[in-house]
Amino acid sequence: MTAQIIDGKALAKSLRVKFRERVEALRTAGVQPGLAVILVGDNPASKVYVGNKVKACADCGVASFHHSLAADAAEAEVLALIRRLNADAAVHGILVQLPLPPHIDVRRVIEAIDVNKDVDGFHLYNVGGLVVGNSIFPPCTPYGVELLLETTGIDVAGKNAVVVGASNIVGKPMALMLLQKEATVTVCHAKTRDLAQHTIIADILIVAAGKPGLIVPQMVRHGAIVIDVGINRLPDNSIVGDVDFEGVKMKASWIAPVPGGVGRMTVTMLIENTLRSAELRLGKGHGIGHEGWDAAVIP
Ligand code: GUN
Repeated sequence: MTAQIIDGKALAKSLRVKFRERVEALRTAGVQPGLAVILVGDNPASKVYVGNKVKACADCGVASFHHSLAADAAEAEVLALIRRLNADAAVHGILVQLPLPPHIDVRRVIEAIDVNKDVDGFHLYNVGGLVVGNSIFPPCTPYGVELLLETTGIDVAGKNAVVVGASNIVGKPMALMLLQKEATVTVCHAKTRDLAQHTIIADILIVAAGKPGLIVPQMVRHGAIVIDVGINRLPDNSIVGDVDFEGVKMKASWIAPVPGGVGRMTVTMLIENTLRSAELRLGKGHGIGHEGWDAAVIP
């Protein structure tokens, strides 16, 4: 068996066509959607990610407001900027690029963001919403994975879904979203003993561990759907995921490659959440149909 490829680039491209139409509709209603991006310090990877987010905004007709602060910026300065952006009607989404320098309390910064502008879905309100299946903004990477899974036509309900990685940004929200779709979910992490014993039962295997070559064919069930969320830069500068793509594609039924799978979708879902925010503000409450979620505005 050779797996079919889950094409994140193609899905992102088709979603963005619809986004441009939604931007036009918003503009006609007098609203120019806008995203504020805050970068603290000069982490090279973060700079690239922020650059991609700003480019995606331009691609879809969303205004972007890029705020770069020095690595030694005080936490109070970041909080003051967030308060200004919370009050700015031109800003529908606020994103603080992580990681932050160690002298800044990440939770305090994220909790300062107005939940109605928390397009990353990291605020405790949105995280809590995931637990009960009602979040305004699902976090972008798992949200993108969910749409990629939909392209395979598989019904997630009743499937064994195994998530490798338990980060707040990917693994934990991913597990909650799969549970909401009635999968039987296992979460593996750095302390998991005998990882293969868990991955081998996966009908759906989502890997977000940040370890190149972690998942080899012997760990994968024949016919599994494999989504690789890892982004690792090798010494030769090439980018690879966490899955041995060439080996695993001979066993899987579907596989999302790196690059070309999840990466482009993460940025695309950020635009989706920003548009959703602008539409909610207009009272339209329209999104791309996130099944199982009731978009709600916080009073
Ligand atoms: N750092 C790595 N991934 C992300 C993300 O999705 N959002 C933010 N804000 N920072 C990140």
